[in-house]
Amino acid sequence: MTLDLFGDALDDPTDGLPAREPLGPGALLLRRFARPREAELLDAVDRVQAAAPLRHMVTPGGFRMSVAMTNCGALGWVSDLAGYRYDPIDPDSARPWPAMPEAFRRLATEAAAAAGFEDFEPDACLVNRYVPGTRLSLHQDRNERDMRQPIVSVSLGIPAMFQFGGDRRADRPARVPLGHGDVVVWGGPSRLRFHGVLPLKEASHRLLGESRINLTFRKAG
Ligand code: SIN
Ligand code: FE2
Repeated sequence: MTLDLFGDALDDPTDGLPAREPLGPGALLLRRFARPREAELLDAVDRVQAAAPLRHMVTPGGFRMSVAMTNCGALGWVSDLAGYRYDPIDPDSARPWPAMPEAFRRLATEAAAAAGFEDFEPDACLVNRYVPGTRLSLHQDRNERDMRQPIVSVSLGIPAMFQFGGDRRADRPARVPLGHGDVVVWGGPSRLRFHGVLPLKEASHRLLGESRINLTFRKAG
């Protein structure tokens, strides 16, 4: 790692790793794929957050999630005491979620195609914000209607350790370090694999400070 005069990390621990890393059948990590578009993506993140502020949702079991979330696109992922669902309306504002920015849609479609999933048209983008200490426990993405459509997950900001497990919760997950601009695509035989994020370590990113933004794209409806 290189340090500048002010002690900020200039690059990611994942910087030298290969551009394409298979994670299993139908699962591929595209390292740094989103980096050339970081400016337009972060601009779009700001616009989405301004229209639909980040919030800590509550799990059906009554726990406040440590990840702060919002959505854009026709459908938004929502959790509350009643359960998980996709909803066209932001429950905090009682208005539709902000439209999916074109830069988001294009990135998701191109990453899916690069992983072999042509014609991916996401209608839901979950925006997750992590700070050091924040984690996301192992889960499956299974609220979407069409399981033939992949998940496209984009990392921006400080690094995280992604856990990529099997089809059963008890399957021991692989640990996959994710850095700024990395995109993970999983679908086909890997579509229902358990995944999560270990508690983030203290770090600072030149554009996002002490935070990580994850964009998760899905065809939900
Ligand atoms: C998710 O599973 O919704 C997010 C995964 C991540 O933050 O990398
Ligand atoms: Fe997920």
